[in-house]
Amino acid sequence: MRRVAIDETVPVTIELNGMKVTGQATSRMLLTDFLRHQIGQTGTHVGCEHGVCGCCTVRVDGVAGRSCLMLAVQADGRKVDTVEGLAPSRDALNALQRAFRKNHALQCGFCTPGILMSFSDFLARKPDPSEEEVREVLGGHICRCTGYAGLMKAIMEAAAEMRGETTDAETSAA
Ligand code: FES
Ligand code: FES
Repeated sequence: MRRVAIDETVPVTIELNGMKVTGQATSRMLLTDFLRHQIGQTGTHVGCEHGVCGCCTVRVDGVAGRSCLMLAVQADGRKVDTVEGLAPSRDALNALQRAFRKNHALQCGFCTPGILMSFSDFLARKPDPSEEEVREVLGGHICRCTGYAGLMKAIMEAAAEMRGETTDAETSAA
């Protein structure tokens, strides 16, 4: 196997939000830094860089995880979804995003992309979660602004809409 110098870059190709993109990465570059600095997608935020705050969460092959705990080279050839890919179009939000807006589930917005990505995976696997289960997942995200009440309400509401129990209009109402 060829040895790669620490500052040598190699091409990394990922399927980002459904589009193939290639950038250069050193062997130690984190996926977070690759997305932000090589690909120019800054929606994925960087907080602790230690796997604690959750704001860098993305989906890799559909599964939510901390992009600060993964090397860019480990993502080569894989599907990566970020917050930039959540909305169905430039003029529309998805159910989670609408519920966040309606319930004031964000203030500064620093934690928001990570929480949205965590719950886009979680609700796909667990469409009818208990409040306890939602709290458990929210516990992996540090939010200094909201006090979590709006987040809880938004996530429970979005889940209900995704199960077809409420309409888009109900969720979008002020
Ligand atoms: S920046 Fe990745 S968990 Fe905090
Ligand atoms: S909205 Fe500011 S940290 Fe969560």
